[in-house]
Amino acid sequence: NDQKGKDALIGVIDAGTRTVKFCVFQPGHTKEIAEHTVDIATHTPQEGWSEQDPKEILSAVRKCIENVVNQLGDDAKNIITIGITNQRETTILWDKTTGEPLYNAIVWHDIRTDSTVDIILAKVPDNNTNYFKNICGLPISPYFSAFKIKWLMHFVPQVKKAIKAEKCLFGTVDTWILWNLTGGHKGGKHYTDVTNASRTFLMNIELLTWDPLLLHFFKIPPNILPKIKSSSEIYGKISPGLPLENVPISGILGNQQASLVGQRCLNEGQAKNTYRSGCFLLYNTGVSKVQSTHGLVTTVAYKFGSKPAVYALEGSVAVAGDAMKWLRDNMGFMTDIQKETESLAQEVFNTGDVYFVPAFKGLYAPYWRKDARGIICGLTAFSTKQHIIRAALEAVCFHTRDILEAMNKDCGIPLTKLHVDGKMIENSLLMQLQADISGIPVIRAQSQDITALGTAMAAGAANGIDAWDIYSEERELVPSDTFLPTSTESERDARYTKWKMAVQRSLGWALA
Ligand code: G3P
Repeated sequence: NDQKGKDALIGVIDAGTRTVKFCVFQPGHTKEIAEHTVDIATHTPQEGWSEQDPKEILSAVRKCIENVVNQLGDDAKNIITIGITNQRETTILWDKTTGEPLYNAIVWHDIRTDSTVDIILAKVPDNNTNYFKNICGLPISPYFSAFKIKWLMHFVPQVKKAIKAEKCLFGTVDTWILWNLTGGHKGGKHYTDVTNASRTFLMNIELLTWDPLLLHFFKIPPNILPKIKSSSEIYGKISPGLPLENVPISGILGNQQASLVGQRCLNEGQAKNTYRSGCFLLYNTGVSKVQSTHGLVTTVAYKFGSKPAVYALEGSVAVAGDAMKWLRDNMGFMTDIQKETESLAQEVFNTGDVYFVPAFKGLYAPYWRKDARGIICGLTAFSTKQHIIRAALEAVCFHTRDILEAMNKDCGIPLTKLHVDGKMIENSLLMQLQADISGIPVIRAQSQDITALGTAMAAGAANGIDAWDIYSEERELVPSDTFLPTSTESERDARYTKWKMAVQRSLGWALA
């Protein structure tokens, strides 16, 4: 079969929070052969709000595809299928008859729904944040899409009108892109995959269908919701007139699940941590769901075609790389995050006992406290920006340790090493600090393309291309280097105790 021949290529649309990228893989290889990336603007009309223009996301997708097609020349015709991976939870509502967004995309870390969450909490026994966890795997938090939909239904007149006229569609970023690429208002496919659906707060985590009780509770009409599909199957083809017309789209994974697949954490007990704007640790629990009693969420890791869904426990940290962005943009501590963070943090031997909890959007796992706010403590007259930058790096590591401890308690078997990926891992100091703070080896993937790679693997599998052997027991796919802990247990624990003290001080700040 020519389609699966040696020249076949697989394309991936990687629509993250800060950038949209299109890239291309040769089956079996782990490095992209071509890519183009475009930045996406985030608007903050009010404190705590975070919006993006859905049309800007689409035009970025188009620009990136066109650019890569140009780079590849004749070889572009060998792209036989495409996968989509995306920032999760971000919520878009649009008019299905015109394709026009009814409001900007509300980005996952937006906290405008704080008061919506309070209204919901007031309706559940004992204000129990975990009241619906048995159904959807998630705690009540502004993070998840249902709260954003509820806010839009309540505050945006165009949304109310479109819902009444049965013209409104909801989608996370994967769905918005898929619907538009496969025909838009002229018959676009209104689908999502199980991993994205598992972040909406509306999917039954056991049955993998929209849950009637949750829909009723939020008063969300089922007709606005996409159909839930697996993460690897042919959803539709790119419409005529668009670049790569007629190429099928055959893989969809939320970006954190995609990197779990790209890291080949395909066996129970394997885990990865991705360091980007936030930080996301996922632990594969196999076909059985583990209900966390220590502040983690239960999520779908992936579902390849008709094979059973595989689940994960997830610990999400809202602010990781975004703390560096804040230090650059709001504090003016540096001009280039990539070039300066590591060297500035290395100018000091330690943080001088400074601790920084960047709880700008409250705290996610394992605390789930929307009332937490950022705090820097332990400052003295000797503290410098170098100490604070180093403390911001350590915050990511301490927060990861919080999640590792919760995971170890939930799973009973402590993780003995941590596989890592994401933009921030270029920072070797961060990697060493992570090993020193968590006390386990940190295995760094020698590739920036893990998220896209996992998506290419899913998209390929739907076309019978399993060049990456995704069902084999073998683990190592991408070359890596390792950082070993150099700290003693008592040093680690003493510093971790101080981190916990700093976290305590950040809790409740928004209410005080
Ligand atoms: O859950 C949010 C996550 O998917 C965001 O991804 O790395 O693009 O900020 P990122």
